[in-house]
Amino acid sequence: MRQIIAANWKMNGLAAPAQALATAVRDAAPSLGCELIVCPPFTQLAAVEATLRGSPASLGAQDCHQAASGPHTGDISAAMLAECGVRYVILGHSERRLNHGEIDETVRQKAKAAMAAGLVPIVCVGESEDQRAAGEHQDTVGWMIEGSLPEGFRGILAYEPVWAIGAGRSATAGDIAEMHGFIQGELARQFPDAAIPLLYGGSVKPDNAGAILAVPHVDGALVGGSSLDAEAFLAIARAATPA
Ligand code: PGA
Repeated sequence: MRQIIAANWKMNGLAAPAQALATAVRDAAPSLGCELIVCPPFTQLAAVEATLRGSPASLGAQDCHQAASGPHTGDISAAMLAECGVRYVILGHSERRLNHGEIDETVRQKAKAAMAAGLVPIVCVGESEDQRAAGEHQDTVGWMIEGSLPEGFRGILAYEPVWAIGAGRSATAGDIAEMHGFIQGELARQFPDAAIPLLYGGSVKPDNAGAILAVPHVDGALVGGSSLDAEAFLAIARAATPA
């Protein structure tokens, strides 16, 4: 299976830099041996879709609402994303869980809505620093998986330890190996019939990407800060390209 490298631009990207970044990814994509997913903010989806059209790189969004339509001021439904040419949607990112009060059940409903609209959810789970310090990282993530993934889940899971996001320090290869082994066991138990790629996210950079992507059970990376720099993002994508 080719590794998956997904760019989470978060709340970054006015028109000109978004266009430059998307163009750089489009131009490099055919020479790369990994799957590329670009997740711009909502306002740039249409423009980035036009840039990526016909390219092997895919378009993703960063959230959707769990309802199909209705009185949800400021929200965007999964069908609206699908109509814009979006194929993937990040759900349950820790910044949404922390800043918008999303709980596992919200994420589960969103994942159901995304699948119903034909999108592939990228669901994020990960423990806080306190939970890790208390030795609760596996239990926390196990419960998050159980609560956030709906029955019949078909999509991607991203393990993103909250303490490593935007922190400049990623989890160590040993931490990642332990957690990805544990999570793969949970996925095999809870979803025996599904092949669910498992990404790592949290301060993935060009200088640590090779080591992280070589860890067993790591099927790719969800990249925040480094995805805003075309050179850095493409260096990570090259690290995911078999020699
Ligand atoms: P980071 O973010 O690469 O900036 O740590 C990753 C993420 O939040 O998905």
